[in-house]
Amino acid sequence: MLFIALRFLALASPAVAVTVTVSATASHPIPTTLWGQMFEDISHSGDGGLYAELLQNRAFQQVTPNTAAALNAWHSINGAALSVVADTVPVSSALPNSLQLTIPAGRTGPVGVGNEGYFGIKVAAGSTYTASFHYRFPTASSFRGSVTVGLQTSAGKSLVSTSVPITAASTAWTLVNVTLHPTASAASTANNFTVTLDGAAASGQTVHFAIFSLFPPTFKNRPNGMRVDIATTLSEMAPSFFRLPGGNNLEGQTVAQRWQWNATVGPLLSRPGRVGDWGYVNTDGLGLMEYLNWCEDLNMQPIMAIWSGFALGGTSVAEADLEPYIQQAIDQINFVIGDPATSSAAALRASLGHPAPFTLNYVEVGNEDFFAPSTYTYRWHDFVTALTAEFPNIHFIATTDTFDPILSPNPLQYDVHVYQTPTWFAQNSFFYDGFERNATKYFEGEYAAISTNASDIFGTPADGRFTFPTMQSSTGEAAFMTGLERNSDIVFSASYAPLLNHVANSQWTPNLVSFDAGNVYPSTSFYVQKLFSLNRGDEYIPSTLPTPAGTLFWSVVRKTSTREIIIKISNTVGTAAPVTFVLPFATVATTGSAQVLTGAETASNTPTTPNLVVPKNSTIPTGKTFSYTAPAFSVSVLTLVAH
Ligand SMILES: *[C@@H]1O[C@H](CO)[C@@H](O)[C@H](O)[C@H]1NC(C)=O
Ligand SMILES: *[C@@H]1O[C@H](CO)[C@@H](O)[C@H](O)[C@H]1NC(C)=O
Ligand SMILES: *[C@@H]1O[C@H](CO)[C@@H](O)[C@H](O)[C@H]1NC(C)=O
Ligand SMILES: *[C@@H]1O[C@H](CO)[C@@H](O)[C@H](O)[C@H]1NC(C)=O
Ligand SMILES: *[C@@H]1O[C@H](CO)[C@@H](O)[C@H](O)[C@H]1NC(C)=O
Ligand SMILES: *[C@@H]1O[C@H](CO)[C@@H](O)[C@H](O)[C@H]1NC(C)=O
Repeated sequence: MLFIALRFLALASPAVAVTVTVSATASHPIPTTLWGQMFEDISHSGDGGLYAELLQNRAFQQVTPNTAAALNAWHSINGAALSVVADTVPVSSALPNSLQLTIPAGRTGPVGVGNEGYFGIKVAAGSTYTASFHYRFPTASSFRGSVTVGLQTSAGKSLVSTSVPITAASTAWTLVNVTLHPTASAASTANNFTVTLDGAAASGQTVHFAIFSLFPPTFKNRPNGMRVDIATTLSEMAPSFFRLPGGNNLEGQTVAQRWQWNATVGPLLSRPGRVGDWGYVNTDGLGLMEYLNWCEDLNMQPIMAIWSGFALGGTSVAEADLEPYIQQAIDQINFVIGDPATSSAAALRASLGHPAPFTLNYVEVGNEDFFAPSTYTYRWHDFVTALTAEFPNIHFIATTDTFDPILSPNPLQYDVHVYQTPTWFAQNSFFYDGFERNATKYFEGEYAAISTNASDIFGTPADGRFTFPTMQSSTGEAAFMTGLERNSDIVFSASYAPLLNHVANSQWTPNLVSFDAGNVYPSTSFYVQKLFSLNRGDEYIPSTLPTPAGTLFWSVVRKTSTREIIIKISNTVGTAAPVTFVLPFATVATTGSAQVLTGAETASNTPTTPNLVVPKNSTIPTGKTFSYTAPAFSVSVLTLVAH
């Protein structure tokens, strides 16, 4: 009996312990830029996401007046007649549209307009909300009244409100700016922002409104800043770079719709917004200055893209016509790092409160130009030649496939993107090992395991596309990341994509961090990114290589300041894997720590199971030789002092 049971146990745990012998000496330093974040406004990552503004369609930007669609997110209260009009006296030239509101005769009680926010509005007791709008009466009269600004549940129960006097004495625009202090938190995020007049007192009046705004407290209290819970989650990864402003969303469907830095800076009244590439209007409230301040707040450097002459709809600007776009890129870079004494773009930056240059080492020339490689040959050439002459210290990143086509000047940086299956990621952890070691370096700028179905990587969830990262996808990515760490002599940066996703309006799945109007849901892949980023070394230590076609992957680094050896292990299958580590150091601590993320193959953190899989810490026995068992579907970070 006993004999049989033991044989059965031996069969049930078939894995033979792998022995990993660690080298005594480092092979290369690890770049401080290795782990960071790729951002673009997709799935309301920016508007309705990281950017804290709570009102959707706040300024009627880029909509067609006199259409129902122009009223997106706005609703009439108590019979008010609403339409978006091209105002004869717009609040600014950048914001030509206004909301025209007419109070019909015969109404009593509050009559006005509500905004549903970005799929809800969180109302929290103790928070101060700043609400503002501009109004004008198109016809001057002796009318005097008041307007009530508030927050209410979608059932119409008031959560907080305040009233301010208004007058029709002039037809000029007047700013109303109030604060709201709710004393109770709303039970859900199904709430509305409301602006109303008294129906009886204002009977027959017509009022125009422009650029409404509602801000909760922001991250680090930055005016026009970031949503605290999302910003805090992103900061907890300690990213060292932030790729901005996209992604496809840089490009525009047409040349005119491209992202233009100068349309995103200065007062909100001077930002026209644009039709983004992901199916909704971008307010550009989250503009270049906001991005740069955000980079400083998180102590990360921008990897900033410039538009390089290609629109996603398929238009390439002819070589002879590139000059104004090259100049716009020069101005954009000068806004970030130029001298206010010699550059008007830099002087604009100084006038916005940042006379000192920001940090900028990397500029990406376009995005995914493997979609237009034939024109990238001249676009890359002309942009990079002109920009290098202006900015000799900046590293320019090419976005075509590596070495295809051959570009001149020869790129010293490439941005490489891959969306694949978990198995592909595990089996490509040696992707960069065979790359020639020369002056060309790589940015793994977008990667994610997104489907189990290799023949349908961009298919629907029914074909295997993940809605949220799973432990299977996250361990695949972690396996790949051990390869990025090993190859960090040539891979200088890497970022999962997409970063953020509003679950009520996804354009793409899976994503690193999901959220809704009330909460943030960090995925299993987020915890992988965080484990790698918070447990960096400054030197890579070679060790016995994993089997490229195997299922268990590791990398070993050293943090010299603390004399710690940090071992990252990804087990990409459902069988626990014993490993024996052999360390050649004179002194090795007898205990270390293990941070372990593990869960079932299909386990995901979702709005209904937000904390299903989170890293757990424990103390483990260590020594010059020690064993560790990597649980099924796990990512482990082992840390011990050894020298
Ligand atoms: C409030 O928001 C809900 C959506 O959450 C919407 O259906 C409703 O029309 C809105 N009401 C007002 C007055 O804005
Ligand atoms: C409203 O006042 C707040 C607090 O003074 C300020 O931060 C904000 O910029 C003002 N809003 C507008 C639109 O002027
Ligand atoms: C931005 O600058 C370009 C020229 O580079 C100009 O054509 C465009 O009108 C400007 N946009 C805004 C909103 O100022
Ligand atoms: C590095 O090697 C690759 C592959 O051989 C080559 O295509 C590329 O031009 C080289 N880079 C430099 C800067 O020489
Ligand atoms: C994988 O994707 C292909 C191509 O879309 C599809 O035909 C096939 O049914 C999918 N397989 C599974 C198991 O979903
Ligand atoms: C686990 O350990 C890491 C590294 O020491 C630490 O940063 C983290 O806060 C710990 N987590 C918990 C839940 O204790």
